[in-house]
Amino acid sequence: MLNEKRIVITGAGSGIGRATSILAAGYGAKIVCVDLNDSVNSTVEEIMHNGGTAIAVRADASDETAVADFITQCVTHYGGIDGIYANAGVSGGRKTLTELTVEDWQRTLAVNTVGVFLAIKHSVPHFVNQGHGAIVCTASVAGLRANAGGVDYSASKAGVISIVQTTAYQLYGTGVRINAICPGLIETGMTKPTFDLARERGKEDRIGQINPAKRYGQPSEISEAACFLLSDRASYVNGQALPVDGGLSASHPWVFPRT
Ligand SMILES: NC(=O)c1ccc[n+]([C@@H]2O[C@H](COP(=O)([O-])OP(=O)(O)OC[C@H]3O[C@@H](n4cnc5c(N)ncnc54)[C@H](O)[C@@H]3O)[C@@H](O)[C@H]2O)c1
Repeated sequence: MLNEKRIVITGAGSGIGRATSILAAGYGAKIVCVDLNDSVNSTVEEIMHNGGTAIAVRADASDETAVADFITQCVTHYGGIDGIYANAGVSGGRKTLTELTVEDWQRTLAVNTVGVFLAIKHSVPHFVNQGHGAIVCTASVAGLRANAGGVDYSASKAGVISIVQTTAYQLYGTGVRINAICPGLIETGMTKPTFDLARERGKEDRIGQINPAKRYGQPSEISEAACFLLSDRASYVNGQALPVDGGLSASHPWVFPRT
């Protein structure tokens, strides 16, 4: 599905980014795996162990010089770039509206929103030049509606959806596509505190129960959507924010059925 596609994936050291890197490499892509954390090396090791192609770059996806640099590394190492998955993100913590500081806002927006903008800004010239390219960004159901994150996190993800919609039109007629994925609750490094707390309280069986799928999701279920959107199979999908959430965002508020 992604045969020989040269793809940059940020946040590749854990969770959704790691799963997508491994799956995309399995579908034949050559990956530049980017993460702040050393764990990106183990993602690349697993890809190579499976016979795939990847390089690891430790970099901050919210730093413009670093972003320009890892995109250039893809071009120099693989001879070009065909897609980018701007996925790195931070949760912003569990602070309430009045506890949040300006510094908290700036950090959350810097990674989740400006980081996405920078990935687009520095990959788009390559894509426009060659007349094709696929951009995928990780937003969240938190960017669609309330109750899936703090105010800063939710706004940062609504910003990603807006960037995707606006950029699709800025790229009018270029052959470049851009889409977002809005994951629901997925078990990853980011949500570990939520899962740990529920397990500590013996309430693990309650996680994900308000979802019509009646469960939470796994990173692999997001990576399948990401690989599709990065591939030519999604050739007519553009400017969309695709919820991959088991149906969670489909509903008005409802009363959990007691059995
Ligand atoms: N897990 C969920 O339930 C969920 C739901 C909706 C959206 N998301 C989004 O999915 C994306 C991936 O998160 P995840 O759940 O896999 O979490 P995760 O914590 O497992 O993985 C995120 C990775 O991003 C890296 N990262 C953070 N800041 C970075 C930076 N500035 N530069 C480079 N790398 C950085 C981290 O080191 C980590 O390896 C995020 O954008 C997150 O907001 C997650």
